Amino acid sequence: MSISIAPSILSADFCNLERDLDAIHAADLVHIDVMDHHFVPNLTIGEPVVKRICEVSKLPTDVHLMIDDPDRWAPQFAQNGADSVTFHMGATHAPVRLARQLHDMGTKACFAVRPAEPVEPIFDILSEFDMILIMTVEPGFGGQKFLDNQLGKVRRLRDEITRQGLNTRVEVDGGVSPKTAPLVAAAGADVLVAGSAVYGAPDITEAITSIREAAEKAYRD
Ligand code: DX5
Ligand code: ZN
Repeated sequence: MSISIAPSILSADFCNLERDLDAIHAADLVHIDVMDHHFVPNLTIGEPVVKRICEVSKLPTDVHLMIDDPDRWAPQFAQNGADSVTFHMGATHAPVRLARQLHDMGTKACFAVRPAEPVEPIFDILSEFDMILIMTVEPGFGGQKFLDNQLGKVRRLRDEITRQGLNTRVEVDGGVSPKTAPLVAAAGADVLVAGSAVYGAPDITEAITSIREAAEKAYRD
C-alpha cells in the first residue's frame, strides 16, 4: 500500500480557499476539519462550505468531523459530496450503524481515536471501516506538537489489521512534518494529514513531496 498525503485546510487562508485548494495538487486527498465549539473548543466550517469545497476540489475529500452527535450530522456531509467522513469514538453512539449508513450512501467511513482513548475496543468492528484515524495531538487546533506517545497505538492497530487480513488504512493527524513522518510511517500509518507543515511552508509542493518521501522511506507494511 502506498502513502497518501492529506493537507489540512485548517491552515489554509479561508479567504482564498480555491487558490489554496489548487496549491495542494501534489497531494492525494484534501483534509477538511469541521469543528462545532462543543466536541472541541474551536469552530470552523459547516455543510454549505464543505459542499462547495467538495464541488471545487480536484482531490478526493477527507472530511474530519470533530462534532457532537455525528450519528445525526455525518450523513449530511456524505450527501454533500464527501468522499470519506471521519467521526470520533468519543462522540458517536452507534458507530457500526453510522458506518453502514455512510457506505450505503457511497461514502467511506473512518473512525477516529483521541490521544487518551485506547484503540483496542474497536478491534472487533475494524472491518466496518475503510480507515482508522489516530490523533497525534488533542483535536481542535493546528500547529500543535506531535505526541510521540501515540506511536505504540499506531503500531498495535497496524498489527491487528494485518492479523485480520484487512486493508483498512491508518491515518494520523496532528504535528506531522518531514521530521515526524518517518516515525508514523514506520509504525504503520499510510495516510498522513499535515496542516501547518504544508500551508506554513514557503513551497507547498516541496513540503508535500518531502513529507511523502520521508514517509515512503520508513513505511513498514
Ligand atoms: C486538529 C486537526 C488537524 C490539524 C492538523 O484538530 O484535526 O487536521 O489541521 O494541523 P497540524 O498539521 O498543523 O498539526
Ligand atoms: Zn483533522
